[in-house]
This record gives sequence, C-alpha cells and structure tokens, in this order.
Amino acid sequence: MNDLKKIVIPIAGLGTRMLPATKAIPKEMLPIVNKPIIQYIVEEVLEAGFKEIIFVTHSSKSSVENHFDTSFELEAALEKRVKRALLKEIKSISKLNLVIHTIRQGEAKGLGHAILCAKSLVGKEPFGIALPDMVIKSSNKNNLTLMKTAFKKNGCSSILLGKAKKEQISKYGIVKLKKNNLVSKELKIESILEKPSLKKAPSNLFAVGRYIFRNEFMEYLSEIKPDKGGEIQLTEAIDMYLKNDNELLAFRLDGKFYDCGDKLGYLIANIEYAKEDPYLKKEILKYLKNKK
Ligand code: UTP
Repeated sequence: MNDLKKIVIPIAGLGTRMLPATKAIPKEMLPIVNKPIIQYIVEEVLEAGFKEIIFVTHSSKSSVENHFDTSFELEAALEKRVKRALLKEIKSISKLNLVIHTIRQGEAKGLGHAILCAKSLVGKEPFGIALPDMVIKSSNKNNLTLMKTAFKKNGCSSILLGKAKKEQISKYGIVKLKKNNLVSKELKIESILEKPSLKKAPSNLFAVGRYIFRNEFMEYLSEIKPDKGGEIQLTEAIDMYLKNDNELLAFRLDGKFYDCGDKLGYLIANIEYAKEDPYLKKEILKYLKNKK
C-alpha cells in the first residue's frame, strides 16, 4: 500500500518570468552549466527511487520529451567522430531506469490543475510531486529519499520546507507548523497560505516544491474552484486537506535550493554549479575572485 513509484512533474507553465528566453524554449530546457534544468530534477527523483515520471506538458514543450529520448543521428555522429565520453553521456540520458509518461495540460490553468491532469495516470496509487523550477542541491541525503522512506513506514503525506528570506515570503506558499507535542518528534503542518504578505505570514517556512501525497489528496484537488485569476491552486487544496484532519508531515530542506523560474535564482544556480564543475571550477573561482 505504501509502495510509492510515481511522481508528477508539471512542466506546462508559461515561464513568463524568464521571457524572452522562454518564448520558444521551455524554461525546463534552459541549461545550468551544460545540463538542462529538467535533467537535474529527473536525476534527483531517480536517485530517490521513483520508477515512473508523469510529465504534465504542453504542445510547446516537446523538447523536454525529446531530451530523454534516443537521438540516433547524434549518437551516430559522435560514434563516427570517436567522441566516446560524450557518446556515453548522451546514451545514458535516454537509457534511464524509469518509465516516462506524458499528459497534456492544454491551457495553463494553474499548478493545481496541472496535477489534476495527471489523475488518470496516477490511478489509485500514492504519488510524489516535484516542481522543476526548484533545483535542490542536498548536502547529505537526497531530501526526496528521506520523504519516500518515511512514507513507506508511516503512509503519511509530506511536504519539504525551505527557509524564505523576508523578501521571498510573498512569492511562496508559507506554512504554519502544529505545536510540537513532547511524545512525537515529527513536525506536522497546521495550515498553508499562498503568497502571504510579510505581515500575514505565519512563519518563514515555505513549500520548496517536493511533496508526497496519499491518493485521497486528488479528491481534495478536484474540489478546488479557480481563483480570481482563473487558476486552480495547489496550496488551496493542501489547506483544505489539512482542514479535514489529514496529516501532513514537514521535512526541513537539507541543502540549498535555487529558484530557477526567476532570473536571479537561475544565475546563482549557474555560478554555484560551475564552481563544482571539474573543468570550470578553477577558472570560475579565479574570475570571481578578481571581480571582488
Ligand atoms: P510557476 O508559476 O512557478 O511557473 O509554476 P510558470 O507559470 O511556468 O512561470 P511564470 O510564473 O509564468 O514565470 C510552478 C510549476 O508548475 C508548472 C510550471 O511549469 C512550473 O514547473 N505549471 C504551472 C503547470 O504545469 N501548469 C500551470 O498551469 C502552471
């Protein structure tokens, strides 16, 4: 019952904050150093042991699917030019040990609506959600692995929380934690508020884009009406789920997050990953040092 195989990755948004770069290129295909953002996310969910990815996609995003497919022409060209290391790397992307399903969200009607589009592919099983614009670099163990392991034991839905700076609070879903009881060390969520003002924010802890839900959550999502902007919000469904006495465990982010849906976060991610790239490390550090 607690066997968690599927994870939904919604990629059907418009990516307006990154325009004009995202006019013809999906946000998820923008590179961090030399790998598209989506590849970092797929590697993270694969490492956590998910076996099936459900991309909720859009007609303009076929390059994401193509990226994980075999490219015979490219492979033949690399073979001919004896570029063995590159050939190995390119082949490995299309030979990942997982099944990729895709389903379309014809119109961007919000994140909640995107997840709902995956309902038939999720079926009666529990499922994860990973938002592709939040790139996470864990410092010890993969955060999704910890959440997935806990789910196997306790069957509880969970959410990963990051710490927002003051200026970030009004950009994210902010949670209120339940008062900790002395018996259990588990952190539980009491409520969640979408993009509150600093004054109304119940804490500085925000949903960093990794979730695990019991299957019933889909029923709550189906009940949510579009907001003033015509979007179905995931946050509203989570709050309704909590108000109906469902448990949602909180996991604190181990490591760093980069909001790559936003210009600054995207640029910082590029610098940070470049600083760890074996070929770029020395030069980029030298460059940054001389700029100070
Ligand atoms: P965001 O709101 O951060 O992404 O949604 P966006 O809408 O693409 O970007 P901006 O705000 O216009 O710059 C978080 C995730 O949910 C997906 C997005 O693709 C992104 O990965 N999403 C959002 C959908 O799949 N469908 C939607 O209707 C909305």
